[in-house]
Amino acid sequence: MSSGWLSAPLPDQGGQLSEIDTGVPHIARVYDYWLGGKDNFAADRAAAEAAMREDPNVVEGVRGNRAFLARAVRYLAGQAGIRQFLDIGTGIPAADNTHEVAQDMAPECRVVYVDNDPIVLAHARALLTSEPGGATAYLDQDLRNVAEITQAAAGTLDLTRPVAVMLIGILHCIPDEDDPAGVVGQLMGAVPPGSYLVISHPANDINSPGVRRLASRLNELMPVKLRFRSRAEVAGLFDGLELVEPGLVRAPEWRPDSDAGLANPAAVWAGVARKN
Ligand SMILES: C[S@@+](CC[C@H](N)C(=O)[O-])C[C@H]1O[C@@H](n2cnc3c(N)ncnc32)[C@H](O)[C@@H]1O
Repeated sequence: MSSGWLSAPLPDQGGQLSEIDTGVPHIARVYDYWLGGKDNFAADRAAAEAAMREDPNVVEGVRGNRAFLARAVRYLAGQAGIRQFLDIGTGIPAADNTHEVAQDMAPECRVVYVDNDPIVLAHARALLTSEPGGATAYLDQDLRNVAEITQAAAGTLDLTRPVAVMLIGILHCIPDEDDPAGVVGQLMGAVPPGSYLVISHPANDINSPGVRRLASRLNELMPVKLRFRSRAEVAGLFDGLELVEPGLVRAPEWRPDSDAGLANPAAVWAGVARKN
């Protein structure tokens, strides 16, 4: 049963999908295809397959990224005692969405999801299945509109209490000219000490040739250009915060829970940091 709310009424699928340009690949649907989902169209599948030819590790890599999301949420809801999550760049619902993992640890967790893709909005109902005692909500909003996001999120989250801000696989969609570090700084400025920042970010300095070819192929095919970043660039996004152990590492190396997980080839930098 949902105890959440929406920033916009949930559309019926037909109405919403008619506003989506299915002839142009989009990152949320390309990613859904790699994860084995069904919410993608021919153009998304063609782009995803083209990228896979450049870097065959990408399919395993996105699963490694998803597994990092779940481990980070388990750490936050468990050891760190966090009960509020702001998950921006949610993606099309998949296995182990943030609220499911968090509420499995602590049913009272409250989660606000944010994405700017109409197809994610069309599927948001699947994200609004809160445990009684907790809450979930969905905002149809762009990461760059921090003031609007925090104002609306305050309808579900108590922003005077710690919040985990989750930016999993989204900041590569923000070009340098839109100042991703400034956006992250604004977000972390809106939450109190004791809050956490979680970032996973595709790398341009791990398995460089394959990953660079993948990025440039996707950038030829998709209107939103992706900017993969180096470890030093991603480290800069955590400025002023304290990275928890093991620091900024390849996503599978962040507190691995199995040998198989650790062997995942994800070319993704990942870290969790505390605002003191
Ligand atoms: C690669 S998917 C990652 C999904 C999920 N966080 C995960 O890691 O499994 C990136 C998501 O970010 C969303 N996104 C990209 N740019 C965005 C922006 N400027 N504002 C809000 N969402 C954005 C896309 O629509 C997509 O759903």
